[in-house]
Amino acid sequence: MEKTAIYPGSFDPITNGHIDIIQRGARIFPRIVIAVLENPKKQTLFSAAERVKMIRETFKDRPQIEAVSFSGLLIDFARANGADVVIRGLRAVSDFEYEFQMALMNKKLAPALETFFLMPSLRNIFLSSSVIKEVYSLGGNVSDLVPPSVDARLAEKFRAPARSSP
Ligand code: PNS
Repeated sequence: MEKTAIYPGSFDPITNGHIDIIQRGARIFPRIVIAVLENPKKQTLFSAAERVKMIRETFKDRPQIEAVSFSGLLIDFARANGADVVIRGLRAVSDFEYEFQMALMNKKLAPALETFFLMPSLRNIFLSSSVIKEVYSLGGNVSDLVPPSVDARLAEKFRAPARSSP
């Protein structure tokens, strides 16, 4: 069976930093399932369906890269998808504590599941979905930091005509 790696995250929205990690992962693993967390307790700019759609549009010519939403424990999603590797990106030392905690918890819950860390290129190291949303909402141009489908969706979200008050 082909080795499947899952790349989980919020992806609210996907950025060129995520894409960098996915492309690196795709050179190592024959199949990558991007697992988009659907968490009703966490407020997101884009719905899980929108986030999945933007990722699918971005990788429409790469059949080895799929995107689906998930809820519940990551280890259960990994098991259901026959994956024994979880890919995560590491940008800076500040990511390390959070990532280490998650990797160790997943290891405790599912000892056969390995977390595989990849570093993005230097030009993507400062990128995060939060920074993209903040810069865009304040009128900054992020078109070279996100895929075109995300740039278009950001425009829809932030430039939608304001609803008139009753
Ligand atoms: O992009 P993010 O928000 O850093 O991704 C976090 C994610 C989705 C990988 C993490 O929150 C997760 O795996 N959630 C599912 C619940 C779970 O399995 N938690 C236990 C691991 S600590």
